[in-house]
Amino acid sequence: MSTLTFWKPGTAGPGSTLDRATEEEGNVVQSAPSQGSLSIQAQRERLPIWKHRQKLLHCVEKYGVTIVVGQTGSGKTTQLPQYLLESGWASEGNVIACTQPRRVAATSVAIRVAAEVGTLLGDEVGYTIRFEDVSDKERTRICYMTDGMLFRETLIDPLLSRYSVIMIDEAHERSLYTDLLLGVLKKIRRKRPSLRLIVSSATLDARSFLEYFTSGTHPDEATIVSLEGRMFPVEVAYLQEPAPDYVRKAVEVAWNINLQHGAGDILIFLTGREEIERCLEELTELIPTLPRGATQIIPLALHAGLSTEEQLRVFNVTERGTRKVIAATNIAEASVTIDGVKFVVDSGFVKIRTYNPTTFLASLSTVPVSQASAIQRAGRAGRTSPGICYRLYPESVFASLPTSTPPEITRTDVTTPILQLKSLGIDDLMKFEWDGLLTPIGERVAECPIEVNIARMLFASKDFNCGEEILTIAAMVSIQDAFVIPEGAPGAIAELERRKFTADEGDHLTLLNGTCYLCLTVDCLRSIAYNAFTKYAHALNFRAMSRAVSIRSQLKKYMIRFNLPLHSCEGDAKRLRQVSDGTYRSVKGNKTLYVHPTSVLFTRKPRTGWIVFHEVEETKRTQIRILSEIEPDWLLDYGHKYQHRHAAD
Ligand code: CDP
Ligand code: MG
Repeated sequence: MSTLTFWKPGTAGPGSTLDRATEEEGNVVQSAPSQGSLSIQAQRERLPIWKHRQKLLHCVEKYGVTIVVGQTGSGKTTQLPQYLLESGWASEGNVIACTQPRRVAATSVAIRVAAEVGTLLGDEVGYTIRFEDVSDKERTRICYMTDGMLFRETLIDPLLSRYSVIMIDEAHERSLYTDLLLGVLKKIRRKRPSLRLIVSSATLDARSFLEYFTSGTHPDEATIVSLEGRMFPVEVAYLQEPAPDYVRKAVEVAWNINLQHGAGDILIFLTGREEIERCLEELTELIPTLPRGATQIIPLALHAGLSTEEQLRVFNVTERGTRKVIAATNIAEASVTIDGVKFVVDSGFVKIRTYNPTTFLASLSTVPVSQASAIQRAGRAGRTSPGICYRLYPESVFASLPTSTPPEITRTDVTTPILQLKSLGIDDLMKFEWDGLLTPIGERVAECPIEVNIARMLFASKDFNCGEEILTIAAMVSIQDAFVIPEGAPGAIAELERRKFTADEGDHLTLLNGTCYLCLTVDCLRSIAYNAFTKYAHALNFRAMSRAVSIRSQLKKYMIRFNLPLHSCEGDAKRLRQVSDGTYRSVKGNKTLYVHPTSVLFTRKPRTGWIVFHEVEETKRTQIRILSEIEPDWLLDYGHKYQHRHAAD
């Protein structure tokens, strides 16, 4: 294994705030307050935000919108809602909301704050994310939630009347629902001036938020509070040559850091679950070769596909003589702060949702990060002591990166948001001309916490008497990775495993078969777990399946509320495929689509030559996932204007 001599030191670039802080050095690794030696209150008072407490409370009192800018880790997310609680903003049944673009952040922060407040999670402090509500209608005073959940709440209560203060956190990330919320909240403020907003941002783009909130309103509508950053210097090293395989390179670099440097955890930025798993596997394989007396490595993953408990493992305090190596997606870029990180290894890539309006295809694409992201990632190494960031690309590449990532709203499928906005009666929010009114089904579809096409499928099931099965399929397509095909496993074995469920008609029915096998009941899953069912037995991902069970039961409540019958089609597969046909978009344009290797139709051509698919992933080529074969004349029967046949080869 090569050493680090090929590294060329550089600078973090503009805005990296490398000024030395005055705090004592060393890694303060404290996750749960009980585990630290300081009292909770003492820990809280050590955070940079503490000295701004009075000023912040004064601004929230005086201004409609307070924009708070401060380095990640300064205490915005965990402390601000508590300050508000302590000064009476949650009296008389009022609730303080704090939104997060990511589920992980909402849950992990709520757990932390519940511990700081000294309450059970879901009692005074709770969280609400899609398919999971750990809050109490009466008792919860601080509620962390995803921005999507709060936005959905505006459909039911357009003035969001139970909230006294709403904090839109991580606003710099410009996620789709954060942007939509900012739009809606400005309107709500006009109708309900007692509502206070806090917009918090980790980067210095606060001015645009200020201009947005003061334009067309009073100059006293908004103000900016800047929290002085506590940042230690971060040295940045670049590769001299681009790495052909950045996952392997990341392993190599992490390994060398461990051998050559003293204490401090390592945070590796990769793009997704598969890369993270490969990285950690390769690292784990090396562990037996660690020299005697070397620092022990604790490999950890952090990505949205993990359960809450699995995600929280990264916060565990480790023993002396050990080092956490956390391979994460860009969750760890700003939303989640792991104390003790001293080394950052940055692949320079990120997976983002993109949407191609000409083909109507939404996809996940791996793209180079922006300079702003790269700087933010590097900063994660300098939170508690000086650190080093290793960028897995040459310095010349940094200069060619875009300065910032375009907001999600400019690169995503806005079908669902448009439907929701229309349902809210806001037709011109983005100066778009949306013609026509919602159909009654459209209005109800807007309320469902799932993608429009899947929600529409639930409604269509009524006409085909197969609500039971469609409900299961809807739950199964909402989770990721129901079937696990271990990487490196000979294709034939995985294929055999899967055979048990494989349906000739395609993936939707295969998913259904997979769940029939497990009966999709919690009890059944539990008993299977008791029988020492291994995580990946029968190529089914146990955790993903448990999530499907819970999603299914949530969706079932919607079906009942909308009076949709829960009939079973009693094995009539044709009916099921007819339902799916109305719900997926066909391709416009002449794009060649490749079948994803996880599909049962990967090795087989559909008999009819026509398929529907659930999603697209854009990697080296455009791959479609979760497919089902359909009869061409169904397209005519169900009145959809598909003019372009898409090739299944
Ligand atoms: O929001 P901001 O990035 O400004 O900071 P924060 O998330 O409120 O974090 C303040 C402190 O709480 C940091 O030292 C975090 O490491 C710590 N924290 C933690 O230990 N565990 C969590 N689940 C969340 C925060
Ligand atoms: Mg935060």
